[in-house]
Amino acid sequence: MEIQLWKEILTPYELAVDELTVKFNHIIKEYRQMGVYSPIEQVVGRVKSISSILDKAQKKGIELDEITEKIEDIAGIRIICQFIEDIYKVVDIIKNRSDMEVKTCKDYISNMKPSGYRSYHMIVYYNVETTKGKKRIEVEFQIRTLAMNFWATIEHSLQYKYRNNIPEHIRKSLSESAQSIISLDDEMATIHTEIVDAQNSFNIKANIISDILNNIQNLYKMASKKEVHKIQDEFYKIYKEDDLLQLERFNKQLDIIAEGYRAQGV
Ligand code: GTP
Ligand code: MG
Repeated sequence: MEIQLWKEILTPYELAVDELTVKFNHIIKEYRQMGVYSPIEQVVGRVKSISSILDKAQKKGIELDEITEKIEDIAGIRIICQFIEDIYKVVDIIKNRSDMEVKTCKDYISNMKPSGYRSYHMIVYYNVETTKGKKRIEVEFQIRTLAMNFWATIEHSLQYKYRNNIPEHIRKSLSESAQSIISLDDEMATIHTEIVDAQNSFNIKANIISDILNNIQNLYKMASKKEVHKIQDEFYKIYKEDDLLQLERFNKQLDIIAEGYRAQGV
């Protein structure tokens, strides 16, 4: 196939990966801005390389003109979560979106692969608009925890190194570590609430600080330098005390001061 044609085939997949990465990163941002725990920790996307597409087509006896019909993972999105229960929240998020239509799901978490691989897979239809018009393509989602991702990444490199013939002693070690990953995820689930609480209060604090700084910045336009400096000094003093309630109270005071200036301005 001509190189130019490959580029044309892959363009919609590149667009889909770019768009979906932005969309899922935005979900993380929305949760964090609300000061709420995000079920998504990280999103990465990739378009399969031409060499991997050719390898897969050859292995599965797929003709070059059937590639987009028969290879479902040309566009791939990997969503990394902290906890197993987050994975199922992400699955629901995807199922409920109007811009994605689920074709198939495979739950390799309830049904671990013989290799020890665990992840939740979804093939999803997604529309993109290119200069050549609308295109409906397939995207593979792999949703897994940080721990599962660690295991899969290492196992994948070993598969690559040994060309899918991993020696028995290494396979055994991988299988044992897969069990450790299960224990790790289970153990983390038992302290889930505590971890989420800690992360939420971190986010809440970050949001209040950001509000306070915005308020102070706005006061620069309205109040006297002397007054702003006084407020700033007070902020540093309260900040050092690391007390969320005090920070909240201080922020409310700033709101009232700013409101007063705005009223005077009108
Ligand atoms: P493929 O021909 O690989 O697409 O297999 P499939 O169509 O049966 O799909 P499956 O859901 O089994 O696998 C899709 C993808 O999941 C693979 O391309 C890998 O990225 C990943 N995967 C599946 N099994 C394993 C495994 O044992 N180890 C690792 N590291 N990744 C795996
Ligand atoms: Mg596949």
